[in-house]
Amino acid sequence: MRVINVTLARLAKRANAAIRLSGIRAAAGRVMPSSRTDFSRSIGLATAQLFHAEGAKVAIMGRDQKSIDTALKTLSTDSLGFAGDVSSLKDLETFMAKVNERFGRIDTLFVNAGVTSNGPTPVATASEDEFDRVFAINTKGAFFTVQKALPYMPKGSTIVFCTSIVDRLAIATAGVYSASKAAVRSFTKVIASEMLEKDIRVNAVSPGPIKTPIIGRRADEKAVRQTWDYLASVIPMKRMGEAEEVAKAVLFLSSDDSSFTTGTELQVDAGSVDLNLFEGNKYEPRE
Ligand SMILES: NC(=O)c1ccc[n+]([C@@H]2O[C@H](COP(=O)([O-])OP(=O)(O)OC[C@H]3O[C@@H](n4cnc5c(N)ncnc54)[C@H](OP(=O)(O)O)[C@@H]3O)[C@@H](O)[C@H]2O)c1
Repeated sequence: MRVINVTLARLAKRANAAIRLSGIRAAAGRVMPSSRTDFSRSIGLATAQLFHAEGAKVAIMGRDQKSIDTALKTLSTDSLGFAGDVSSLKDLETFMAKVNERFGRIDTLFVNAGVTSNGPTPVATASEDEFDRVFAINTKGAFFTVQKALPYMPKGSTIVFCTSIVDRLAIATAGVYSASKAAVRSFTKVIASEMLEKDIRVNAVSPGPIKTPIIGRRADEKAVRQTWDYLASVIPMKRMGEAEEVAKAVLFLSSDDSSFTTGTELQVDAGSVDLNLFEGNKYEPRE
């Protein structure tokens, strides 16, 4: 059972806030199966919850209605949930229209939905189906999420993409996922240029290894914990990240506190890229 995805919210005011919000926010996330409730939340859900706590109105999108319902219970009653697939332009159009109908505009769009490959994808053997699946969600889905939201995004609104540290790292056998995110890194810059005239800032968060369901999706809990331990051992700060730590970066990039920042990617990775994580290309993704 899982959830979510794009969240949008409207006007949040926070007295004494270091971060001031003024608008609709977007995020994505997932609710874990009950057997894994001790695991951390998805990045999208953590972001939706943080924005909600800041007073924003949020809308979320994911493929599974049950998961959305579970996520909505952790948000305010006027939050909007929509079951749809980001690789479907029709679903994106319907979702954005519903958001506009409910909230009147979109002030922040968090383009977060994403999947990893089902196992390694070495160039010698990766299948066309797997290539198309990952790119349809991570790359096409991200691009058209923005396209379908734009008609409802006023001057001064913000877009935050979710990339990954692998868009810069050369990790053998992870080419399909890495390239799908490298394209999103490119969108961040190109769309930021296109949006200058509309006064819409566009940035990305680039998470390192974060404790969410995406790692070890098909593994049992013991194997997932072993993977987390391994990753923690190679991360410069010697720990995995929490979804909330990415959510705070999304909030920063969505708020006026980052008013002079556009077209950039903020690493939320404990130095994993710049301080040489995976030195010697030792990382072995485990599904
Ligand atoms: N966790 C990490 O270590 C890490 C590191 C770098 C980047 N990221 C990126 O962070 C983002 C969030 O991932 P996460 O770690 O929070 O993992 P997650 O728990 O698996 O969340 C991914 C979310 O995307 C949604 N999604 C997937 N395919 C979709 C589709 N076709 N249509 C609509 N929604 C879809 C999922 O919901 P449904 O499956 O229910 O639709 C889920 O809510 C992803 O883009 C991921 O690539 C994560």
